[in-house]
Amino acid sequence: MNAIELLLQRQSTPILTEPAPNEADLKTLLSAGMRVPDHAGLKPWYFHVISGQGLQRLSDIFVEATTLDMANKTGLIEGAGIDEHALNEKLAKVAKMPFRAPMVIVISTRYVEHNKVPDQEQLVAAGCAAQAMQMAAFALGYGAMWRTGELAYNESVKAGLEIEEGNEIAGFLYIGTPTKEPHIKPAKDYQGNVSYWQ
Ligand SMILES: Cc1cc2nc3c(=O)[nH]c(=O)nc-3n(C[C@H](O)[C@H](O)[C@H](O)COP(=O)(O)O)c2cc1C
Repeated sequence: MNAIELLLQRQSTPILTEPAPNEADLKTLLSAGMRVPDHAGLKPWYFHVISGQGLQRLSDIFVEATTLDMANKTGLIEGAGIDEHALNEKLAKVAKMPFRAPMVIVISTRYVEHNKVPDQEQLVAAGCAAQAMQMAAFALGYGAMWRTGELAYNESVKAGLEIEEGNEIAGFLYIGTPTKEPHIKPAKDYQGNVSYWQ
């Protein structure tokens, strides 16, 4: 697959199974992630590569963060008790999330103070890294899906991953092998998103 085919055909794969990228392919993914546009060469990102037992650790972090969140929210509403059923349903759901693929790469920022490079640019660069790794995975025959959701913005999740205060999770990149031949989505028309100044 050449680069243009890759860019024009890329799409996400929500359902993924084993195998995860092997060691050589993972190196390629991470190298692609490091290769992105990077104002002042700050490398303002960090990758947690999570697989095997690590997925259970991530699941535990999700469960703990959700429990805390529910307790805090309930505490804010005077007299409201915890809805055990709703809590258990939610916990069961978040506990399963990391197992949607055999590998998850968490892409977070590692902001560097710089007079010419605001945090906004550094977050964009971290996003580019996520995209580059997804493209590399696709080119190597794997499937991947970039997800966030409320847990990406949860302070306990960030703490569990030892992401330094003030930083952000740009995404959870789920990577594995597609379970079936993908249905190719039609291309999006660009006409409404472009203007030409000539
Ligand atoms: C920053 C970011 C966060 C995303 N978070 C989610 C998510 O939490 N859940 C989800 O279903 N899709 C999420 N998406 C969208 C999917 O990754 C995917 O792009 C979308 O399902 C469209 O599919 P496609 O990539 O095949 O066009 C996110 C995309 C980005 C860029």
